[in-house]
Amino acid sequence: MILITGANGQLGQDFQKLFNYIGIQYIATDYKELDITNIKVIRSFVLDKEITHIINCAAYNDVDKAESETDAAFMLNRDAPVHLALISKEIDAIFVTYSTDFVFDGTKGSPYIEDDQPNPISVYANSKYQGENAVLETYEKSFVIRTSWVFGMGNNNFNKQVIGWSKNKNLLNIVDDQKSSPTYSRDLATYSWDLIKTKKYGLYHLSNSGECSKYEQAKYVLKCTGWKGTLGTAKTADFNLPAKRSEYTKLDSSKIESVIGKKIPTWKNGITRFLNEYLEKKS
Ligand SMILES: NC(=O)c1ccc[n+]([C@@H]2O[C@H](COP(=O)([O-])OP(=O)(O)OC[C@H]3O[C@@H](n4cnc5c(N)ncnc54)[C@H](OP(=O)(O)O)[C@@H]3O)[C@@H](O)[C@H]2O)c1
Repeated sequence: MILITGANGQLGQDFQKLFNYIGIQYIATDYKELDITNIKVIRSFVLDKEITHIINCAAYNDVDKAESETDAAFMLNRDAPVHLALISKEIDAIFVTYSTDFVFDGTKGSPYIEDDQPNPISVYANSKYQGENAVLETYEKSFVIRTSWVFGMGNNNFNKQVIGWSKNKNLLNIVDDQKSSPTYSRDLATYSWDLIKTKKYGLYHLSNSGECSKYEQAKYVLKCTGWKGTLGTAKTADFNLPAKRSEYTKLDSSKIESVIGKKIPTWKNGITRFLNEYLEKKS
């Protein structure tokens, strides 16, 4: 039996859809059923069930708020995954958790591989970086999967925001000085599962292939939705956000591609499939 935590979020929902599709039994829990910061509750929840995997999709994801809510960010992104890893160890279950491209400072200028040295420049990034290190030190049967710019049906994301803004405006200005790769949570779940089945534990990068700026991502979304307005560029500094952003954090997914023997689809392909799913549901 697989336990999914944070199951109502983007990735959690896509793991549920995947497991329904391939016929794998799971227990889906979110904050209300299982608060991952409460180790006692998790332990007693898990002990009387035959859990083979714990897949942690819960996280503190508000990059700007984390600057002032440091304790909450560290509790969810560092301490809770470590507790989940310890419980997984106790019951001999495989543990899977997620991290971010933001652990890098963005100065490399070419796609980041797993051996590159992180240098987090925000509280959120630091909480994730400390979480991934602590999990890998705690339990050898762990997967830590870094991903980037996740979008899916299960929560708000940049694609949905762009579509929302475009409904009320004829001019949009989007930043062109942050580059990475948008990643469809459906692909993240699918290829993570391929990886988990290999039992080749450790640290991996998994994002849709190719790279783009937020501006290029918005341009593609708006082209697909047929928006007739004007799209201009902006700079991150124009928005005076609490957390610093790295300029270039594209993750290189070649390690996972060689382990699972599959190529990860492009971000444009991911966005096209997401829009079909999203716009069909809205119509
Ligand atoms: N989203 C991105 O762009 C992005 C980028 C890089 C890495 N990642 C990482 O990828 C993973 C999946 O991200 P995602 O976008 O699917 O996240 P998400 O949509 O924000 O989902 C996270 C889920 O966890 C729940 N949650 C929050 N606190 C919890 C707690 N104490 N106990 C149990 N559940 C709790 C959330 O509930 P509420 O909504 O009610 O708070 C939400 O349903 C995360 O590790 C994330 O950090 C995401």
